[in-house]
Amino acid sequence: MKDAGYEIAVFPGDGTGPEVLREGRKVLDGLAEGGAAPWHLTEYPGGGQYYLKTGREWEPEAEAASRTADAILLGAVGWPGASLPNGDLAGRALVLGLREGLDLFANVRPCRLYPGVRHRISGEYREVWSPKFVDMVIIRENTEDLYTPARGRLRRGGETEVAVDTRIITRKGSERVIRYAFELARHRSRGAPGDGVKRVTCIDKSNVMEGCRFFRETYDRVSKEYPEIERDYAYVDAFTQWLVRNPERYNVAVTTNMMGDIVTDLASVLQGGMGFASGGNIGTDHGMFEPVHGSAPKYAGKNQVNPFATFFAVEQMLRWLGGRHQDARLLAQADRLERTLARVLARGGSGTYDQGGTATTSEAGDRVVAALREEPA
Ligand code: IPM
Ligand code: MN
Repeated sequence: MKDAGYEIAVFPGDGTGPEVLREGRKVLDGLAEGGAAPWHLTEYPGGGQYYLKTGREWEPEAEAASRTADAILLGAVGWPGASLPNGDLAGRALVLGLREGLDLFANVRPCRLYPGVRHRISGEYREVWSPKFVDMVIIRENTEDLYTPARGRLRRGGETEVAVDTRIITRKGSERVIRYAFELARHRSRGAPGDGVKRVTCIDKSNVMEGCRFFRETYDRVSKEYPEIERDYAYVDAFTQWLVRNPERYNVAVTTNMMGDIVTDLASVLQGGMGFASGGNIGTDHGMFEPVHGSAPKYAGKNQVNPFATFFAVEQMLRWLGGRHQDARLLAQADRLERTLARVLARGGSGTYDQGGTATTSEAGDRVVAALREEPA
């Protein structure tokens, strides 16, 4: 426990990022109402829009804060037309750069459909995807695979031009993320919603790719340390249909970076859409938490997007900080926030446009703050 309080570096970033983080801060203030907040937030500008204005992705103070903060809260990064001279996403320093630089090896994406929220499959509500069927966590390796900056272009401009991305899968990178998944399954109170079984599914393409064979071998080896957890395998292509057809089968799943990027967005449809999807980027010494919907330029400045993904990111952050520092205050606040979010959602969802409502981003935030007042700590 840290008596002096936790320092949280806030990077609102681009587009709708600042709008949802404003609500996230409001909810953190709401949690602390009537007492002293055990956290302190400092906001730093940065991202693609900042790059267009200044020629820099962020300032040295922000970069330094990312290394010294107890946790990082990230809005969204990416803006049309904002790219670095080498073609990379301007603002990558804040997301991909921090994943690499702080060694945030596990991308933790909870996918749970709360009562009151409508899944987004064909926009039609069907009982078969009711909340009792969707409650999983997908763990995506977050530092290697096709995301390693071992890429380039040869013979630029000519008929024979070639682009190369290198897929790197290491023993260390695979082992630690697979172990993270098994530890999570072990400590999570719930198994798969369909049968209650604690299960870790390894998602790969080991029928074709060597890196995936290596990843699966590592999974087999690590899984032996967890005999109480069921082993399960899925080729990524087949997984995409099973995920939608039988989400109740999944408890914890683990996969490589690029496949994880794709399947977690697909999974978000089961939890109500990207408006509810939060992600934790977790390493040994650092943690960064974000709504994963991105900057959504089309909606920027309209006070329209769903801030619940940010609220769940705040919950994930408090839980991680509380666990790491054995701080019961933060764990209690994470539980309180989750209960409150569940209660607000059960009363009629987020109310925002993506769920067929008319509530603005800030109204959705106000509802959560009001509900916190009725939810004892
Ligand atoms: C995510 C995002 C990022 C990724 C982008 C913004 C680079 O899509 O967090 O899933 O590809 O990892
Ligand atoms: Mn993504």
